[in-house]
Amino acid sequence: MTPADRVIAEIEQNQAKTYLPIIGPEKGQVLVKMVKLVRPKLVVEVGTLVGYSALLIAKHLPDAGRVVTFEIDREVAKIAKKNIEIAGFSHKIDLIVGDAKKTLGRIGKQVDLLFLDAAKEEYLAYLKLVEPLLRKKAVVVADNVKIFADDVSDFLEYVRYSGKYNSEVFDFGQDAVEVSIKL
Ligand SMILES: C[S@@+](CC[C@H](N)C(=O)[O-])C[C@H]1O[C@@H](n2cnc3c(N)ncnc32)[C@H](O)[C@@H]1O
Repeated sequence: MTPADRVIAEIEQNQAKTYLPIIGPEKGQVLVKMVKLVRPKLVVEVGTLVGYSALLIAKHLPDAGRVVTFEIDREVAKIAKKNIEIAGFSHKIDLIVGDAKKTLGRIGKQVDLLFLDAAKEEYLAYLKLVEPLLRKKAVVVADNVKIFADDVSDFLEYVRYSGKYNSEVFDFGQDAVEVSIKL
């Protein structure tokens, strides 16, 4: 077991006690599948929490791949930073603290994969901020599109019907993940 595997397993075990809203191992497999498929150079994640999904992504990146992850809450960002260090992934994951609506403009590079998992009613705003940087066939993964269907309705309408994406929902029963490919 690598240090990253240990940190990921610890967060999963703690989740049963702390109810942290991590993507979790089941829905996380969609994210892992997309990382393996896209082999991204740059992944942008909105909503770091304690770093679980960032570590899951980083673990499956090609050597040159990097994650830039955005978190508004300074306290959880400190925990995420520590988890990333313990996992030995500080060279792969760049954590930016602040409101993503103000900080996403700092990316300045082509984005291959975007993972949306912060404030549900802001998914469309995050997408619009990153959209000019999404390369053709870039993949957008959005968590919680079933339990927060009302909050993400404008986002779902956009990725499904704007003609800019091919979009598909992966249903896990209680919740679902939307995967949208930029045309
Ligand atoms: C569902 S959790 C993220 C879980 C994480 N992606 C995982 O699966 O391990 C959502 C996170 O988004 C953060 N967040 C909410 N609004 C944000 C914003 N405007 N900018 C950056 N982060 C935000 C919250 O503080 C919270 O830590």
